[in-house]
Amino acid sequence: MQDWALQIAEGNTRALARAATGIENRDPRALAVLRELAPRAGRATVVGITGPPGAGKRTLVDALARTLRQEGRTMGVLAVDPSSRVSGGAILGDRIRMQAHHADPGIFIRSMATRGAVGGLARATGDLALLLDAAGKDFVVIETVGVGQDEIEIAGLAQVTVVVLVPGMGDDVQAIKAGILEIADIYVINKADQPGAQRVEREIGSMLSLAPRADGWQPPVLRTVATEGTGVAELLAAIHECRERHPRESGARRTGAACKIDHLGIAVESLERALAFYEGLLGMKVSGRETVEAEQVRVAMLPVGGGRLELLEPTAPDSAVGRFLAKRGGGLHHVALQVPDLEAAVERLRAAGARLLNEPRAGAGGHIYVFVHPASTGGVLLELIQENQS
Ligand code: CO
Repeated sequence: MQDWALQIAEGNTRALARAATGIENRDPRALAVLRELAPRAGRATVVGITGPPGAGKRTLVDALARTLRQEGRTMGVLAVDPSSRVSGGAILGDRIRMQAHHADPGIFIRSMATRGAVGGLARATGDLALLLDAAGKDFVVIETVGVGQDEIEIAGLAQVTVVVLVPGMGDDVQAIKAGILEIADIYVINKADQPGAQRVEREIGSMLSLAPRADGWQPPVLRTVATEGTGVAELLAAIHECRERHPRESGARRTGAACKIDHLGIAVESLERALAFYEGLLGMKVSGRETVEAEQVRVAMLPVGGGRLELLEPTAPDSAVGRFLAKRGGGLHHVALQVPDLEAAVERLRAAGARLLNEPRAGAGGHIYVFVHPASTGGVLLELIQENQS
């Protein structure tokens, strides 16, 4: 491991801050550090906190931080404000309130208010959450300021998403419910000592009864008074319960840092002729050959760098590769990526309406794979493979 990554792994806050800035700027050296550290991630509880302005989210995060630190646990906070590109650092005041924690190396806070496009902001947020997780933070909070679709999506990168509401916003609940229903795992009514808490609770209750979650999780509705720390222990307990009973890969793990190229599949008329080139002229070496009956292909695997070339010769003209050759000639047939959790990936793709060509099944070498139609992937046939099985 290079020094920079090592320092972060050992808890050096300045090295961590430098990497966070580098990752936001897509600095290749910082991204290399992230890739090096990524395998250490996966222990943190990644929580998204969102809700309308004025709901007291920052005070709630503050109260969570205090409780976690009392328990000896560490926390990273990513405060995301896409709108402040326009309105100008509204988040600064909030930052000052968090200043009390700044002297504490167990808490790392980063405001992300000025990154370019929202797609880029979501990516940077996912990468930074991965970094904080890999750096050993027990809790990573992704806090977004509003309830626009962008904010909701960014908060939804987390494993557990908490939606914070306040009394006196019954109609607003109606207005924002569409996006929130999709991601809320836990509802918090903050400032619950103010009149109207019951009404918000009823609104949420009727919303939930109209649209029960497909996964069977019933989002609890909790009351807090963050300024006094009331209800915070209950919120933490609910977050843990949700994470355990409703395991979901965090967006931090989903952003692609964990995907690897496994192989490139190349359709050829003749393995022998192709190998005369790859082995004979390029000096590559076949690591394995086999005939996959189900796909009607003969396969030769050629290791190259961290990945492989997979040469495919059809054993029948009406096989998938045979038809590909007849129609398009030899060439790149598919790209294969390793994913950390194939089942979760398939679930997400299905939910998004991507076209899968088969149920996940065992293929050459016994690895589990699924093919995704080019219509969903930008024009190339994509093979997804469960990591560590190929
Ligand atoms: Co393949």
